[in-house]
Amino acid sequence: PRNAARGEDGAVLVAGVDVRDLAREYGTPLFVLDEADFRARAAEFAAAFGAGAVHYAAKAFLCTEVARWVDQEGLSLDVASGGELAVAVRAGFPAERIAVHGNNKSLAELVAAVEAGVGRVVIDSFHEIARLDAVARERGVVAPVMIRVTVGVEAHTHEFIATAHEDQKFGFSIAGGVDSTAAEAARRVLAAPNLELVGLHSHIGSQIFDTEGFEVAAHRVVRFLAQLHKEHGSDALTALTTLDLGGGFGIAYRAEETPLDVPQLAEELRGIVKRECHAADLDVPSIAVEPGRAIAGPGTVTVYEVGTLKDVPLDGRASRRYVSVDGGMSDNIRTALYDAVYDCRLVSRSSERDGSGESVLSRVVGKHCESGDIVVRDCWLPADLAPGDLLAVAATGAYCYSMASSYNRLPRPAVVAVRDGEARVLLRRETLDDQFRFEVAP
Ligand code: LLP
Repeated sequence: PRNAARGEDGAVLVAGVDVRDLAREYGTPLFVLDEADFRARAAEFAAAFGAGAVHYAAKAFLCTEVARWVDQEGLSLDVASGGELAVAVRAGFPAERIAVHGNNKSLAELVAAVEAGVGRVVIDSFHEIARLDAVARERGVVAPVMIRVTVGVEAHTHEFIATAHEDQKFGFSIAGGVDSTAAEAARRVLAAPNLELVGLHSHIGSQIFDTEGFEVAAHRVVRFLAQLHKEHGSDALTALTTLDLGGGFGIAYRAEETPLDVPQLAEELRGIVKRECHAADLDVPSIAVEPGRAIAGPGTVTVYEVGTLKDVPLDGRASRRYVSVDGGMSDNIRTALYDAVYDCRLVSRSSERDGSGESVLSRVVGKHCESGDIVVRDCWLPADLAPGDLLAVAATGAYCYSMASSYNRLPRPAVVAVRDGEARVLLRRETLDDQFRFEVAP
């Protein structure tokens, strides 16, 4: 987080709040969210693209209070399920600034979206075109939609989070021009009396640093737009005024990494879209984006308490220190799932980084019953690390809580927001009673 600092005795303060006090008050593992950091990143995207054009991707992390922050910063919201939509509605988020995603939205989700009056539904299949048109017709409304297209870009990121190559489940392919499935989807949407085509959508993947992927996507989406104008005539497409280029802006997970330069990318994308549209004699559409990780990720740390330490010999040469903490893959599955690389610091007292002692190459592991339960694969921790010390893993604000489980019946951690020296619980820690509520047997 931007507002983290070491206090005089070496312990870390986030937004002026001592992590030791937080751990004492709320327990560990604990997600500590620097509210000012979240808001500042939202504001930076708003400055680069225009606030309403930025749809914060709820999947990264959402609760009612965070939906309110997003609203207060003037951003729009991308939801990918009925559950995320329900949180937004509960927060009083203005429906016209909500975009609804998903490759398999249920009928109930489509109904909820239409009844809420969302700003757009991003269409992802032929079945959905017919279903949504029927839902809108039954309610006597016209639903604004975008078509999600697949632009055939190989984003350089982990396979599971890359989405714009051809062989995956999302979107309509634009390959093949007028014979493409995307062209057919546009025909069907334009022929549907209760749907209005307001934009085209492309999302090439997540945790991307190579701006070329976005640029190629922008080129191809504009080319497809030009093709639609040629086929249908511009009068049929007057509502189609937005190109949404999705999310995926890469962040730094460790101090030595450099995040994507968002204002610069925004500039480049605007340039590309403008040039291509002028060349094709089209009105220039507005650009929208859907950042999740880049807004929510960097401002949160997970605080764990060290429970046990074990030095395991490696081939008789050296040893590796396993530091076990009180959470693990249930609060951060990303290391196990994507080989994500995190860093970790001792935060309850001075650390080796202040030159106060020797450090040891360590592996931070959780308390779950499998050896893949690794939080941080390699990091340097003080040689005198001991049970009871607090460790913090940085940049855990996106896709950690939102992908948390209660594996091994570990209760999901609490999420605390800190700001100007004050802490506030956003989500309390789960309890075993919460879990027992699902049980129906006597
Ligand atoms: N828009 C769409 C249509 C998406 O599918 C996603 C992410 C986003 C926006 C936001 O992407 P972001 O800016 O956060 O990269 N669980 C994985 C990430 C999966 C992303 C899924 N879609 C992870 O932990 O890395």
